[in-house]
Amino acid sequence: MRVDLSVGIAKKVLSYHRSLPNFAATPLSNLYNLGVHLGIKGFFVKDESYRLGLNAFKVLGAGYAMGKWMGAKLGIPDEELSFERLTTPEAAKQLGTVTFVSATDGNHGRGVAWTAQQMGHEAVIYMPKGTAAERLENIRACGAKAEILPMNYDECVDKAAADAKKYGWVLVQDTAFEGYEEVPTWIMQGYLTMALEAAGQLEGVVPTHVFLQAGVGSMPGAVAGLMADYYGEEKPTVVIVEPNKASCVYQTAAAGSIQTVSGDMDTIMAGLACGRPNPVAWDVLAQTTEFAVSCPDWVAAHGMRVLGNPLKGDPRIISGESGAVTAGLMTALMQREDLVWLRNRLHLNKDSVILCFSTEGDTDMQNYRSIVWDGKYPNAE
Ligand SMILES: Cc1ncc(COP(=O)(O)O)c(C=O)c1O
Repeated sequence: MRVDLSVGIAKKVLSYHRSLPNFAATPLSNLYNLGVHLGIKGFFVKDESYRLGLNAFKVLGAGYAMGKWMGAKLGIPDEELSFERLTTPEAAKQLGTVTFVSATDGNHGRGVAWTAQQMGHEAVIYMPKGTAAERLENIRACGAKAEILPMNYDECVDKAAADAKKYGWVLVQDTAFEGYEEVPTWIMQGYLTMALEAAGQLEGVVPTHVFLQAGVGSMPGAVAGLMADYYGEEKPTVVIVEPNKASCVYQTAAAGSIQTVSGDMDTIMAGLACGRPNPVAWDVLAQTTEFAVSCPDWVAAHGMRVLGNPLKGDPRIISGESGAVTAGLMTALMQREDLVWLRNRLHLNKDSVILCFSTEGDTDMQNYRSIVWDGKYPNAE
């Protein structure tokens, strides 16, 4: 299945998001002094911790897909899709109470639960073993029935899909599999808002490199697709970044065909601990991405410390494990002698303008403090 990730569709998605209560663009932070320090031309980080009060970008995808699903049921044309149209008394009567179900490491499920609550529906959320209690409670606080199950992320996805069939619930999963492609495709389109906002906020500055962290690859696929259409011949080099314990996109890129990772995938980057790439997203990444890098946990911890302790004059960014790994990698690449070979492979130099997305804030506050205050996961020697 092909997915439309053009500027045209991104504008429609953004217009839907703008109809949500309290919607606002997240800031694009210009880390000018860090860029000078690292010897590059520019360093920009989109700070998604401000997204709709949910501390992560993920609601953009889940929220848009749920809106599209309801819009299709109600026969609302795309151009007229809005929060208001989906929540009129007539719409409520026609739809009844819908139960949305999903598996999540935290951020996506919070987006599903929040959207269901805002629209007067219900949500059931499954989370893998090892999930931080704070993430579970944040989802329950949005009124969802949420539980941590004794299985990994991909097994939770299978359970959510099976229960959707069994109980007649609507599956809102951020990855595609055979026979389930429409909703994940809408989710990818939902993420376009973040990329389109960033491109606009750069005010004509063209990034040379975009670093994108991957779980199943839906977010990086969406952003890379938009960048290709937005910049055309000037398209930035796209670098995919993953934890080395869950590097399914990296391994897929190396093999040239879909590869999976199994087991516990015990990385601090919980949002990226996925073992099966989204095949629809992979098709896009195969066309639009130049590099994939697999990182140990300290790289994410390093990024959290750098973004949380800016150079004088730069804005501070509270970035969680999955949010900070790209900035952590970029900083390490420009500073470490042992990474000069990779810096050169990626053509990073004084002319480079970098765009990263800090896709989450401190979604696990306790771990955030252990890392940023107490120095847990120190940089490798
Ligand atoms: C904070 C954060 N960043 C990045 C991602 C990666 O997105 P995707 O799984 O679509 O590749 C996720 C996924 O859950 C996430 O939670």
